[in-house]
Amino acid sequence: MKKDWKLPSLKAAQIRTPQEAAIERSLFALDPQVRSLGIGRRYFIHTYGCQANERDSETIAGILEAMGFVPAFTEAEADLILLNTCAVRKNAEDKVIGQLGALKRMKRENPDLIFAVCGCMAQEEDIVDLILKKYHQVDLIFGTHNLHRLPQLLMQAMMSHERTVEIFSKEGEVIENLPVRRFGKHKAWVNIMYGCDKFCTYCIVPYTRGKERSRDPQDILAEVRELKTQGYKEITLLGQNVNAYGKDRASGYGFAQLLRDTAEIGVDRVRFTTSHPWDFTDEMIEVIAAYDNIMPAIHLPVQSGSSEMLKIMGRRYTREEYLALFHKIKERIPGCSFTTDIIVGFPNETEEQFEMTLSLVDECRYDGAFTFIYSPRTGTPAARMQDNVPAEVKSRRLQQLNEKIAYYAHQNNEPYLGRIVTVLVDGPSKKNDQVYSGYSETNKLVNFTADHAEAGDLVQVRITEIHSWSLNGEKVEQSQPQTA
Ligand code: 5AD
Ligand code: SF4
Repeated sequence: MKKDWKLPSLKAAQIRTPQEAAIERSLFALDPQVRSLGIGRRYFIHTYGCQANERDSETIAGILEAMGFVPAFTEAEADLILLNTCAVRKNAEDKVIGQLGALKRMKRENPDLIFAVCGCMAQEEDIVDLILKKYHQVDLIFGTHNLHRLPQLLMQAMMSHERTVEIFSKEGEVIENLPVRRFGKHKAWVNIMYGCDKFCTYCIVPYTRGKERSRDPQDILAEVRELKTQGYKEITLLGQNVNAYGKDRASGYGFAQLLRDTAEIGVDRVRFTTSHPWDFTDEMIEVIAAYDNIMPAIHLPVQSGSSEMLKIMGRRYTREEYLALFHKIKERIPGCSFTTDIIVGFPNETEEQFEMTLSLVDECRYDGAFTFIYSPRTGTPAARMQDNVPAEVKSRRLQQLNEKIAYYAHQNNEPYLGRIVTVLVDGPSKKNDQVYSGYSETNKLVNFTADHAEAGDLVQVRITEIHSWSLNGEKVEQSQPQTA
């Protein structure tokens, strides 16, 4: 171990103090030596995991481009490869470990190639230990709290030809004014807060992303205004738990107000993710109902339909409380679509408890769900629980759940047949460039035919065919009568 390495500590990452996180507006600086470090060099970023990582990769790209790097189209032509990793489940980590192995060969062919690993896996003690012992091709490891230090860290790694490791396991601050290179031209992510304080017993995120800390509303709203001026049509407000926005600050300005002020700016579409059922207030529901440009699509992770299981998961609500909230939103926002996250095979989950999850799905009839088999994460309370559920039982439960989810997804799409929906066009479909694709207000993937459509257009599409996970249709051309 080198003396100047800063290694992660799960114990330190667990600490929470009541102090408001500092907002740092001038931490990022490009010293003259680093300003041209990237000239003539290309970078390639692999992004794994959630939208927070997608948004971090946009910041990393922005920093690299400010240093003169340009994007590489393929990994093979890159001089710098970054893996922005996810730690939420073991299979996400396995993908990264597999990729690290594959990259070993590239380093042999081009010894000047620089490899960096960042993101949530870089915040885990055992993973960093593994990389340091086994994956000598990695030149730089940095964490989720020090993106702003990338220029200095890269400089060190490139000039010294020695491994550079800097990971802070702290509560974190809010760092403003980092460069950004947005990957989308019509849809943008806007961070409203970082971290998570919920400490659900299975989840590693509160350790890898630190304390809940909200950005100043003025910084967020200025970013949204700027995006609108640049022609963005849809913005998604991002946080591990957006409903907790502002609770860490004394001002009393919360998520409902932020959502209202964002909608007032007049971007065509406003979305937000993720909402924890715990802090979902009536005021939020009213704001969503009141503004046509706040999209009627709610992602409301339930995790389990059993109150006993929810208690052991540390979710802070019962089945009954979740259902009451669900129905309240559904009544107040007619036509709203609902998606969720569900974990099966949590330690000692009984068949009855699993059945409770199935019956909750029968009641909520979700439009879709991300479903997972529980994956133990070192350092979390659940990872220390004895587990008596065999792997085959977990797989069978997942399959049974997925069949039910697909059934309701299909059922919910049936009323769309013949309806006209507004679609924000992403571009030609991935499978067929004669066909365009985009998303409806309720976040349904829509593939449609049209004489012509441009990415970023909002178009009317008549639905002619439905599937579980997408709708097919044809663009309603201007001369045809339109409905909302
Ligand atoms: N095992 C399985 N799924 C998990 N999630 C979070 N941690 C774990 C874990 N250890 C799921 C939850 C969460 C989503 C982002 O990932 O369902 O809502
Ligand atoms: Fe993880 Fe729970 Fe926080 Fe979501 S709310 S990031 S599941 S700890």
